[in-house]
Amino acid sequence: MTEVTAHSGLLSKVKVHVEDPGGPGRPVVLIHGWPLSGASWSEQIAPLTAAGLRPITYDRRGFGSSDKPSKGYDYDTMADDLAAVIDELDLQDVSLVGFSMGGGEVARYISRHGQDRLHSVVFASAVPPYLAQTDDNPDGPLDQATAEAMEGGLKSDRDSFFPEFVTKFFSVDGTLKATPAQVDEAVALCQQSDQTAALDCMQAFAKTDFRADLPMVTVPTLALGLNAWSFRDRSQGRHARARRASALGYCLVLAGSYLGGHLVFCHRVGVDHSQPAPPSRGFLAVLPEADLTQDSPHQVHYEGAAVVLVLHNRRITAVSALCSHLAAPMSQGWLHRGELVCPWHGSRFDLQTGCPATGPATAPLTRYETRVADGQIEIRPADPSLTTSRSDTPAGASQ
Ligand code: FES
Repeated sequence: MTEVTAHSGLLSKVKVHVEDPGGPGRPVVLIHGWPLSGASWSEQIAPLTAAGLRPITYDRRGFGSSDKPSKGYDYDTMADDLAAVIDELDLQDVSLVGFSMGGGEVARYISRHGQDRLHSVVFASAVPPYLAQTDDNPDGPLDQATAEAMEGGLKSDRDSFFPEFVTKFFSVDGTLKATPAQVDEAVALCQQSDQTAALDCMQAFAKTDFRADLPMVTVPTLALGLNAWSFRDRSQGRHARARRASALGYCLVLAGSYLGGHLVFCHRVGVDHSQPAPPSRGFLAVLPEADLTQDSPHQVHYEGAAVVLVLHNRRITAVSALCSHLAAPMSQGWLHRGELVCPWHGSRFDLQTGCPATGPATAPLTRYETRVADGQIEIRPADPSLTTSRSDTPAGASQ
């Protein structure tokens, strides 16, 4: 269990309650629906863990065990809360799963914070693209009268509203598909919500238009959500709307494929920019040992390849001089707690392994072995298969 401070500053510190089992699995952040909490994902935790993943849940501000401030229930703020969780836990290669209202945070997170830390996203029966039925969104599933009835019910008697809402939510064609115990459990989670939070979030998910956010989502899982939407509409006899959702899904798959290819092949986004090592010619002298100063990256060359030498804690390490993210000159970086920091976007690299400790870089820096002979620092390309072995040399350890 973790408490993440989502926003700091005058009058605006908000603690977000996070459940994170830790471990080496790829992180999956599960974002709950309205008006529940992270505990609503309890049934999904075991299978995700069994699949080798690291399922992380958190309670949206105003719900569950998180702080319940009097404001901040707009999607910009709530997406920033999600970013705070991801940043605080230093998650990389994350899958975001947004259920219902939680899909809004997924879409807005991407438009505000990008996809550098993401592996994929899932919109599970989610509110994007736009729930409200308006003149420019005539197919929006939430009309004004229904929205007002929901709001009025919650305002007048929340103790009656929640059981009724949950029962409807768990029913298909009037038949309840959950056990009474599951209904009670969900109602208990609803009751943990703050009334202001519940009402303001109702406005947020009903009235936030995500149509401008969605083009920034370039993962095909969005199409699965639209296809699911299409299936639901077909089963309810709304064939025209189903066809549009399905067509939009296919268009997004095609657009995502084109955009992904364009970004990779034309702009080299996501490509490893770390310069590969040239063929090894064995150890070559690159710098007098006396010229290398503590914690000050120094660029040298090995057979034309730029390499950075670092002396830290009396050990000399050598890695590619180009950041694997976008080829920043690592010789202009600095040391932070023994890690080499990229000067452009702050990726931190483990000096022993070359692996990124924090992103946005995801690929390791090419490593070189080092030694000191006759007062000269010598390097040669390290065996790339030994990604976790040490390839450094104690300073002054002449061989
Ligand atoms: S160039 Fe972006 S993190 Fe290094």
